[in-house]
Amino acid sequence: MLVRDLRWSDFDELREVYYRLYDEREQGVPIGITLFRERPSLPDEVDWFTRTFQRVLSGDAVMSVAEVDGRAVGNCMIDRVGALATSEQGHIGVLGVLVDKPYRGQGVGSALLRHALDRARGKFEVIRLAVFSVNDRAERLYRRFGFVRCGHIPRAIRRGGQYFDEEEMVLLLDGPAPADWKV
Ligand SMILES: CC(C)(COP(=O)(O)OP(=O)(O)OC[C@H]1O[C@@H](n2cnc3c(N)ncnc32)[C@H](O)[C@@H]1OP(=O)(O)O)[C@@H](O)C(=O)NCCC(=O)NCCS
Repeated sequence: MLVRDLRWSDFDELREVYYRLYDEREQGVPIGITLFRERPSLPDEVDWFTRTFQRVLSGDAVMSVAEVDGRAVGNCMIDRVGALATSEQGHIGVLGVLVDKPYRGQGVGSALLRHALDRARGKFEVIRLAVFSVNDRAERLYRRFGFVRCGHIPRAIRRGGQYFDEEEMVLLLDGPAPADWKV
């Protein structure tokens, strides 16, 4: 497995990984990531990828990609909250991570976080994220990297007729990195 920065050529494989989350949800898996009601169209995905790539190039986002046998199988993005680095929230990044189902539980998510947080140092001071309260695997992963819970949002997600609570978590990057996650 290799973790590297985003490439323009990653579009199709990352879109497929993302689309498969909708298949998982369809099968009744309580997938712990916020999705749209319907799977976004191909043009919507092209828009998203183009904007993401621009934000990476301008330094407003970090995007790490995990590759196995030459295929992208997951990504971790940290996106600036403020529109500009100079805005009053420009020091905050919001993190999201996703690994394709067959590759979970093998260290891919950890490798993605390690890479993305390493890239985020010097660019952001605070990393925030929200995790479904039922997503124990993801929360354990974040805790291993030093994230701490800072809030609980009841009924944060409405999926069909079901509500999910969310935990807000935060990591301050200005201290020394915990020894076990530094690249
Ligand atoms: C959450 C998610 C990103 C974690 O990624 P992952 O690749 O499964 O994470 P890791 O493999 O690094 O760690 C998960 C577990 O595998 C274990 N693990 C790590 N390396 C391993 C290895 N080589 N062999 C076996 N197990 C391993 C870890 O110890 C960890 O165990 P734990 O859950 O008991 O703490 C992934 O499950 C996912 O994409 N889920 C769906 C989307 C989602 O929920 N995203 C998060 C939104 S907040």
